Amino acid sequence: MDGIKELKKDKSTGFAPFGRKRGPTGRSPREGAFLTRKIVAPDMLNPNGTLFGGVIMSWIDEVAFMSARRHSGRPFVVTASIDNITFWMPLKPGEHVILTSQVNYVGRTSMEIGVKVERENPYDGSRTQATSAYLTFVALDKRGRPTSVPPLILETPEDERRHEEARIRVKVRERIRSRLKRKYGLAAEGKEAAKPQSPSRSSSAPTALWSVLSPDAVMGKVKDTLKRLQGSG
Ligand SMILES: CC(C)(COP(=O)(O)OP(=O)(O)OC[C@H]1O[C@@H](n2cnc3c(N)ncnc32)[C@H](O)[C@@H]1OP(=O)(O)O)[C@@H](O)C(=O)NCCC(=O)NCCS
Repeated sequence: MDGIKELKKDKSTGFAPFGRKRGPTGRSPREGAFLTRKIVAPDMLNPNGTLFGGVIMSWIDEVAFMSARRHSGRPFVVTASIDNITFWMPLKPGEHVILTSQVNYVGRTSMEIGVKVERENPYDGSRTQATSAYLTFVALDKRGRPTSVPPLILETPEDERRHEEARIRVKVRERIRSRLKRKYGLAAEGKEAAKPQSPSRSSSAPTALWSVLSPDAVMGKVKDTLKRLQGSG
């Protein structure tokens, strides 16, 4: 499973690459799983001398992208959101880093991918979790519109557990997204925006949240929404 497995060679699942022919069943989390290794290089460090968070985030996006492509069998998949990134411990120069990703949950066109980042002891192979994250990818057709992906086949109790936890996160994301859309008319490019509630932002053009608020204000709004959602159970 190490390294990049070419999609065109993946004939084991009955799904032709890039969605030309769709199989009847679906794919298991293992079929979409991906693992890669990195070494922390001196040019990747922050002023503290540990691995820069942005580098880890880029690695996370990369492995999750591979899982989304493998599961969907589509050439075009995009990152719709990244959440719950937790940096458990710093990574130091020369350390070996293992990134693993797998599909936790599949909607109609979207997939939640879980990524685990571990520090590996090069002498005894033991691993310690350093970072984890959840990403949502959406499969796109040739015209760039969301398109359906194969269902996820849950085979083990662990698959069931991950799926159930992901289902809750998906619901939370949906609620936050629909509230933000209602409130700010947030919409994807080319789609008609929801009508903004505030008269001061009544332009008919789609209004991106980050175009009217500073990054800190956006984070404040997201935190408020999360608090309200938690409060409302
Ligand atoms: C992601 C994107 C294609 C969704 O487009 P959209 O018109 O909002 O699509 P829809 O409302 O039909 O939603 C499609 C699916 O994506 C999910 N989705 C959309 N935005 C999401 C978000 N921010 N977080 C999680 N899921 C999201 C929806 O729940 C839906 O899932 P489902 O089909 O499994 O039920 C669009 O927002 C986009 O192109 N974003 C930019 C992507 C990008 O540039 N990424 C960085 C580089 S890869």
